[in-house]
Amino acid sequence: MENASFYKDSIVLLDGVIEEIIARINVIRKYKKVHNDRDPIEYILSRVKSEKSMKEKLERKGLEVTLDNALHKIYDAAGIRIICAYIDDVYAVVDMLKQFSDLKILHEKDYIKNPKENGYRSFHIVFEVPLDIGGKIHPVNIEIQIRTIAMDFWSNLEHQMKYKKDINNQSMIVSELKNCADEIASIDIKMQTIRKMIEKG
Ligand code: GTP
Ligand code: MG
Repeated sequence: MENASFYKDSIVLLDGVIEEIIARINVIRKYKKVHNDRDPIEYILSRVKSEKSMKEKLERKGLEVTLDNALHKIYDAAGIRIICAYIDDVYAVVDMLKQFSDLKILHEKDYIKNPKENGYRSFHIVFEVPLDIGGKIHPVNIEIQIRTIAMDFWSNLEHQMKYKKDINNQSMIVSELKNCADEIASIDIKMQTIRKMIEKG
């Protein structure tokens, strides 16, 4: 429990919001399965942001390193990543999440329609979740990233590069990664087209 010292009692809220949202999503997935609907999700990952990277992020944003800022000024103390096989599944998951009528959308970024300059693609949505603990409502923020397996493959490698200083051939790697991102985007579309053709029969 290395995070307990920084987040104190609030670690319960962060772990709690992750557990609650994953549980809600899994109920819908099971419901879809018994009704022979497509389950749009391959797998779900989650984490509470480590004390070290939370402190780094607060400093990078010019915020005082306090628990209050970590919980309220930064939106990804609690984070879930949902990995889908196909791009249309990503949007099906976004629609699924937006149907939780008690969740308030704080931010929404579609880096699939509008990829970042480096080639990063993913759908991000930040919710404020009303966690009910013994009748008292605690609003807790959670960042949900939804992306395809291929986008995830790419962003994990790109993330490795970003957090490693002093790399040789940095500019070559950056441009190779950009090429890969574009190829991946085109393959994601082709795979989805083929899947639809197979489904049609
Ligand atoms: P930070 O980028 O985290 O400071 O927050 P932001 O307010 O700019 O939000 P954004 O939605 O851009 O990014 C949120 C999270 O998405 C990040 O913490 C990363 O996990 C992920 N992310 C955003 N951009 C990139 C990127 O270029 N590469 C990778 N690998 N991940 C990214
Ligand atoms: Mg960013």
